[in-house]
Amino acid sequence: MIVAPSILSADFAKLGEEVKDVVEAGADWIHIDVMDGKFVPNITIGACVVKSIRKVVDVPFDVHLMIEEPEKHYRAFVEAGADYITVHAEATHSLYRLISKIRGECKVGVAINPATPLCSVENVIDDIDLLLIMSVEPGFGGQKFIESIIKKVEKAKEMIGSRKVYLSVDGGVNDRVAKILREKGVDVLVAGSYIFGSEDYREAIRKLRK
Ligand code: DX5
Ligand code: ZN
Repeated sequence: MIVAPSILSADFAKLGEEVKDVVEAGADWIHIDVMDGKFVPNITIGACVVKSIRKVVDVPFDVHLMIEEPEKHYRAFVEAGADYITVHAEATHSLYRLISKIRGECKVGVAINPATPLCSVENVIDDIDLLLIMSVEPGFGGQKFIESIIKKVEKAKEMIGSRKVYLSVDGGVNDRVAKILREKGVDVLVAGSYIFGSEDYREAIRKLRK
């Protein structure tokens, strides 16, 4: 199980320290939520922040782009040190072209919102490294896990089959939800408020992985 803390819930006044602490506490990847105030109602961070925290730790950076026109902006995040660039299927009219472009530069993930059906990514499943199922409406940390997503996760696992594609779930993940998702064969758990809102990062990460 790969545990990827989402820094959206970290203390941004000491972001470098937070990233270091969470990696020392056992985080496998760092999940970075990029929001533009258009694709989602919130605005978060840009490539310069990714570049700064890249100097602090060596673990893979999983950059989740919740932005319009990802084709215009993804490269800045690759250059800043992203290992995975995840784009939303809903954010582009040319998903296949976008994936093909990113693939030449970086590992590529595709995310789908809670209301977006799995069939929207069926035709690109052979071309991606990661499939991210959103279990909350993207935009904010600390929301409640949408239980009906579990069915979608089961179907996604089936769709992936023996392909080398990570199945990742993002939004409202806590220890209770993690147990269910582990049983469903999810590979990557993204968790923001559960980890950064806890007193003990190591214990929180251990409980997610258990
Ligand atoms: C939501 C983001 C998530 C979020 C998860 O739009 O993509 O990564 O930070 O936060 P929690 O775990 O608090 O739901
Ligand atoms: Zn995310």
